[in-house]
Amino acid sequence: MNIEQIFENNKQWIAKQLKTDATFFDKLGKGQSPEFLYIGCSDSRVSAEELMGLQAGEVFVHRNIANMVPNTDLNSMSVINYAVMHLKVNHIVVCGHYGCGGVKAAMQQSDLGILNPWLRNIRDVYRIHRKELDAITDEDAKYRRLVELNVQEQCMNVIKTAEVQKANTERNLKVYGWIFDIHTGELIDLKIDFDAILKDIMAIYKIGN
Ligand code: CO
Repeated sequence: MNIEQIFENNKQWIAKQLKTDATFFDKLGKGQSPEFLYIGCSDSRVSAEELMGLQAGEVFVHRNIANMVPNTDLNSMSVINYAVMHLKVNHIVVCGHYGCGGVKAAMQQSDLGILNPWLRNIRDVYRIHRKELDAITDEDAKYRRLVELNVQEQCMNVIKTAEVQKANTERNLKVYGWIFDIHTGELIDLKIDFDAILKDIMAIYKIGN
């Protein structure tokens, strides 16, 4: 694609938005109050707003390789802090996707340089769920399950943050684990029962009262 095309696309997008709502950009200029925080993969095939059918201003987005929420990652921790404490979102989504290259890389033994410490967070997810994963003989099924379990663990990392714990006691903040199936375009809610999963371990991660 020619880079000039991008600016042409932008002009067309402006015209389209104004045709639907003449005040669209006036509203954007006044500020944002999105109801959702979306944490997803950087994969070019998984575009947050498009797959949810949302417009600019409706979702606060954070994307990185394999939709990770490592607790020492200043970037994702800052995004969660800002979304929860300042934007006061009431829905936090961690969205993984089948065919995730980051998850695939973590299942292999190659040295990927600077990606190694990032991908090791996924290897840790494998270790935590090793019994279940090792029992799956079909490699593709195992890959898909690791994508799902990674979403589950990253949701738990969201719940472990002080901001989310505090918001949970003050208002009805919900965390969701989703998968985007790149083969069909379907968005799948994993319907993770966090209360059941965290029942026995939340005491370890509890911060504050
Ligand atoms: Co991915």
